[in-house]
Amino acid sequence: MSSTRYDVRGRTAVITLDSPPVNGLGAALRTGIVAALDRALADADAKAIVITGDDKAFSGGADVKEFGTPNAAREPRLPVVIAAIESSPKPVVAAISGVCMGGGLELAMGAHYRVARADAQIALPEVKLGLLPGAGGTQRLPRALGVETALNMITSGATVPAGKLKGTALLDEVVDGDPVPAAIALAERIVADQLPLKRLRDIKLKDPQGEPLLQFARNTVGAVAGPYPAPLKCVEAVGWSLTKPFDEGIKLEREAFVSLMATPEARALRHVFTAERAARKIPGLPEDTPLRAIRKVGVIGAGTMGGGITMNFLNAGIPVVLLEMKQEALDKGLATIRKNYENSAKKGKLTQEQVEQRMALITPSLDYAPFAEVDLVIEAVFENMDVKEQVFRHLDEVCKAGAILASNTSYLDIDRIATFTKRPDDVLGLHFFSPANVMRLLEIVRGARTAPDVLATCVDLARKIRKVAVVAGVCDGFIGNRMIARYGAAAQGLIHAGALPQQIDGALQKFGLAMGPFRMGDLAGLDIGWATRKRKAAEAGVAMKPIVADKLCEAGRFGQKTGAGWYRYEAGKRDPIPDAATEQMIADYRAANGITPRKISDEEIVERCIYALVNEGARILEDGIAVRASDIDLVYLNGYGFPAHRGGPMLHADIVGLPNVVRSLQRFAAEPGADPSWQPAPLLLKLAEEGKTFN
Ligand code: NAI
Repeated sequence: MSSTRYDVRGRTAVITLDSPPVNGLGAALRTGIVAALDRALADADAKAIVITGDDKAFSGGADVKEFGTPNAAREPRLPVVIAAIESSPKPVVAAISGVCMGGGLELAMGAHYRVARADAQIALPEVKLGLLPGAGGTQRLPRALGVETALNMITSGATVPAGKLKGTALLDEVVDGDPVPAAIALAERIVADQLPLKRLRDIKLKDPQGEPLLQFARNTVGAVAGPYPAPLKCVEAVGWSLTKPFDEGIKLEREAFVSLMATPEARALRHVFTAERAARKIPGLPEDTPLRAIRKVGVIGAGTMGGGITMNFLNAGIPVVLLEMKQEALDKGLATIRKNYENSAKKGKLTQEQVEQRMALITPSLDYAPFAEVDLVIEAVFENMDVKEQVFRHLDEVCKAGAILASNTSYLDIDRIATFTKRPDDVLGLHFFSPANVMRLLEIVRGARTAPDVLATCVDLARKIRKVAVVAGVCDGFIGNRMIARYGAAAQGLIHAGALPQQIDGALQKFGLAMGPFRMGDLAGLDIGWATRKRKAAEAGVAMKPIVADKLCEAGRFGQKTGAGWYRYEAGKRDPIPDAATEQMIADYRAANGITPRKISDEEIVERCIYALVNEGARILEDGIAVRASDIDLVYLNGYGFPAHRGGPMLHADIVGLPNVVRSLQRFAAEPGADPSWQPAPLLLKLAEEGKTFN
């Protein structure tokens, strides 16, 4: 299997990169390029060489799948390939269309001349993976485009259309059509006119504005880099192009690349990148599973979730029938959707015309008749099995054969819901996260009977509405909410033992979470958990033993919406203010339960809360509720504000070291009166003993 094609046209050898889908520069392609180059150099018929890809990609850059594998280190490495091109005694012209990114752009910059199609996408996006361009990009791009443009591109990773780079030393020609004939014509001219072999490395970069620009970039980039080391390293590396000889700049760049590659932040970003791809592979679901067409969607309930869910489909141009019980609720739901779109229009993200177009895709309804037409229904009514039963029985009566029937339930049993219909194979959970038009996560809950094509259709649909889909099995709370219950209990336990809400939130926010558990609780409403605890106590037939969270609710403190919860809030404001009244309730609870509060460190807070997630994550894997650990990480990154630079709870555990996680859990479990859930999960113990990791 060859990864390049070779042919001679006139007096020019054309080397075509042929490694679908995007000519990723894995070991096979790198070897293929050098072999084709050697062939062209030995070929007496070839006086010049053109390197090209196809119309979708010159090259998308490094093969991320190869990172961390022995193939990544296999010779020839990319800098060697680029040096071979650059030192070719025959002129080399790169003909660029489609994506030309990262290592792909670095490869093109090794050529003597470059011809690009105006809409080719040029970028050095390495910073987005916590890296810097490691094959000369930081040294050649400033020489080609000047310090300012190079700094902008390298520190942001942004894509620039080739048309915008016309007239620079990066692109000798920008053309509208296929760049290959233009590149061959240029190659012929180079040979005929004996034009010089231009090498970007030979440009002596002199930019009087260079140092002030670098200083400016250090300040601006430093201010937004957060926990990531890469953006500032990118600035430093561009600086070397100004102050160091080329070869020294290259050496320093390589060292910086290697050291960034080993940082936990880069590992986390790589993990996220590969996790999103892995999540699309679902056991028992072949890639060629047929899909059902989804041309029209029905949404039941226009409340908090129904409205946001509807917007996802309108945004993708898919019409929605929106059902409510009463005209008033329907009007309210429609008004909220319109208000959201009007706000986007005010920010310039939508035109007024687009707002109207999207609103016109909604068919508001108070009865089920229009549901005979829809291909997919998503139910988002109250979280109550009796109400769900009523809705699904209705749907079973009116929906056409083959329609997919989905529930947005947060906790309820999808298999039970499926029994309310005579078509359990068409039923599954589509669990969106609030606000549903913003949050990227979609948990797709596969019931015991869910048909493969129903599942495959929903996975495909998730991509169309730009969601990160993770498939989960049926259990109380699926992946995300089942884990968050343990995290919430850990935070609650810390309150009882001696910490205050503001300390716990502060410690977890310092760790990187967007919001600590108590701020989150106040935002979501404490009454939801209270109702669940009351329901569970009633179901178990036991008297409820109120915890501090229940005491808050008994006092009417439901969170932001009532002006007080764990914190208090000033009218119209969202800033949480620590409240002496809450502290008194906590003190009373401890006194009543004979607890002497102890001082708790921020480190212990993070360990307890995050390891509670990890331990439940391990059980979720054991139970087969999640397919793989990286799926759990995606749930937390996209649905719960887990910091991307930590790569999700399961990768965090891998980085900390599973034996360390086990030791902490065993310590927590050994405390008098400890909750049995602190016992390390058998899978976690096994992996730790075998020296393995989750990911
Ligand atoms: P909500 O109370 O804001 O909205 C529910 C809507 O359904 C109301 O407008 C109500 O009038 C309507 N409704 C009730 N019964 C109906 C029926 N028989 N026919 C037609 N409409 C009916 O509730 P929310 O928060 O939107 O939750 C809906 C579902 O989504 C629940 O199952 C909940 O567990 C789930 N969910 C909620 C999340 C949240 O953060 N609020 C997140 C993810 C899922």
